[in-house]
Amino acid sequence: MERTLSLIKPDAVSRNLTGAINSRFEQAGLRIIAQKRLRLTTSQAEKFYEIHRERAFYGSFCEYMSSGPIVAQVLGGENAVLRNRELMGATNPANAEIGTIRRDFGESIEHNAVHGSDSLENAAVEIGFFFSELEIIE
Ligand code: CMP
Repeated sequence: MERTLSLIKPDAVSRNLTGAINSRFEQAGLRIIAQKRLRLTTSQAEKFYEIHRERAFYGSFCEYMSSGPIVAQVLGGENAVLRNRELMGATNPANAEIGTIRRDFGESIEHNAVHGSDSLENAAVEIGFFFSELEIIE
């Protein structure tokens, strides 16, 4: 069983889509084994997305990620990292396949509804950013 970090971003939380997105995970056989609603400060968002520091969108994207509440969650299941990436679809909703979360709920490349870890290695780091082991219940 793998674990991956998922974030429901401010655009989707503000449009009350948390339940609709969670049902996509559950219907696909992923389990929500930890979940919390929180609001990042801009500096916390900058730390989480540090890998993108040199990109032109970094500043505005980190402002956006701290503009309202998000839902952070750990998804568990077989091949959870890849499975979640398939469910999310391409980063830009315009390029995402029909039926994916970003195609159905994303508004733009920045307001693309969800984030998901891109590898098992990064998932462990990203989960540790938001959760202690005590908060993850399999
Ligand atoms: P995410 O999976 O959260 O990881 C980094 C995020 O940066 C990505 O989703 C996008 O929402 C955002 N992003 C990537 N490219 C761009 C871009 N060209 N303009 C704005 N935001 C971007």
